[in-house]
Amino acid sequence: MARKQDSGPPRLVVAVAAPVNITVDRRPVSARRGESVLTALRSEIGYVRNSEFSKERRGGFCMMGACQDCWIWQADGRRLRACTTRVEEGMQLMTTREDLP
Ligand code: FES
Repeated sequence: MARKQDSGPPRLVVAVAAPVNITVDRRPVSARRGESVLTALRSEIGYVRNSEFSKERRGGFCMMGACQDCWIWQADGRRLRACTTRVEEGMQLMTTREDLP
């Protein structure tokens, strides 16, 4: 997956934090311990999720758990709010709801 360091919020923990391995859409992505899922995704793939209502990509808005723009899916179907959830080793995240056409 292409790294997009120049998009999204600054990645403040990158220099000192240990790497955390996650997958996004079944592809390996490197995150950093202590960072939010939103920061990891914006830094690594440039967005957080695909909209359920259009072909547009969403990247979060408020960054503080208020706007609901950053809900994404885990491989088991559960949702999580990317801006208020820290990355954990082995997370399997999906940018699209798989049960949608
Ligand atoms: S970015 Fe607004 S709730 Fe996460």
